[in-house]
Amino acid sequence: MFTFLAYIKFLLRSSNQHGVHSPFVYNLVTKCFYDRKKHPSYSILKQYRKSLLKDKRTIKVKDFGAKSRVFKSDKREVSKMAKIAGISPKRARLLNRLVRYLEVDNALELGTSLGLGTAAMAAGNAIRITTLEGCPETAAVAREKFKTFEFKDIELKIDRFEKFLVDSGQWSVVRPNSQLTTDNRLAYGADFQSVTNRNSKFQIPNSKKKQPTTDSPQPSTPISILNTKYSLLFIDGNHQKEATLAYFEKLLPTVHNDSVMIFDDIHWSKGMEEAWEIIKQHSEVRVTIDTFQWGLVFFRREQEKEHFVIRV
Ligand SMILES: C[S@@+](CC[C@H](N)C(=O)[O-])C[C@H]1O[C@@H](n2cnc3c(N)ncnc32)[C@H](O)[C@@H]1O
Repeated sequence: MFTFLAYIKFLLRSSNQHGVHSPFVYNLVTKCFYDRKKHPSYSILKQYRKSLLKDKRTIKVKDFGAKSRVFKSDKREVSKMAKIAGISPKRARLLNRLVRYLEVDNALELGTSLGLGTAAMAAGNAIRITTLEGCPETAAVAREKFKTFEFKDIELKIDRFEKFLVDSGQWSVVRPNSQLTTDNRLAYGADFQSVTNRNSKFQIPNSKKKQPTTDSPQPSTPISILNTKYSLLFIDGNHQKEATLAYFEKLLPTVHNDSVMIFDDIHWSKGMEEAWEIIKQHSEVRVTIDTFQWGLVFFRREQEKEHFVIRV
């Protein structure tokens, strides 16, 4: 019901390219969002989805973040997951075009799931992708498919996002129209408090003591994902306000002037809408585009701060 009402509001506020005065946004909308050509890479996306839809294996899923509104059990058929949980075919094609249009050379994805979004970024594009997934069995399926489809430049890291997003152990607060202030950890809910707690189950970088976990089939290098600049960051896991704001803030140092952050499900709940409003107001954010399912965030310093609501 919440999403339905949010969609009605979106329809009333949204527009197409008409009335968009920013050349950057106008070109993005007309040349990428509304590009109706059939690109050869789309057939790879189709094949990838097809291979998941006919995969009748059942896997044990470890749930993170916001609970699924559809699945009640942790035993799930891969084909059903692909039908319900992954990026839609239309969004996959848009993501594929965005990578090309924005000339994205490297990307970070939070939430691999079965790899539909990762495949969308990779298909036909020269791109290096780091993708994070907390559920080992889901990630194993994605890894297998990446191999089958010969996607070479994908690094799939398996563990909780929070583990990879730790550096100094300090978290900070996002305040509208302000620079970040550090160390107000209480604002972020249980997960993030435990990240900052040195006695927590999460591994602290530089800690001499190794803390293996049973669900980490590969050794983790937690700080490495924060040492890179990404041209595209696809934030598509744990759709909750506090987590979304924490990921945004934590990943800010990894963006450059031409990066885009894409937040999935910005109208999924009241909390997600609140997170989106806070992100829009942040002083480092210049242009935002609300496409209902996704919120796109640009940091281009040469642009005036402006918010768009565009039907895709
Ligand atoms: C909506 S799915 C991602 C869909 C995928 N990006 C796509 O385009 O098809 C979200 C995924 O994020 C993972 N996830 C959510 N919160 C997480 C967390 N805190 N740490 C690790 N993985 C998490 C879930 O296990 C789930 O597989």
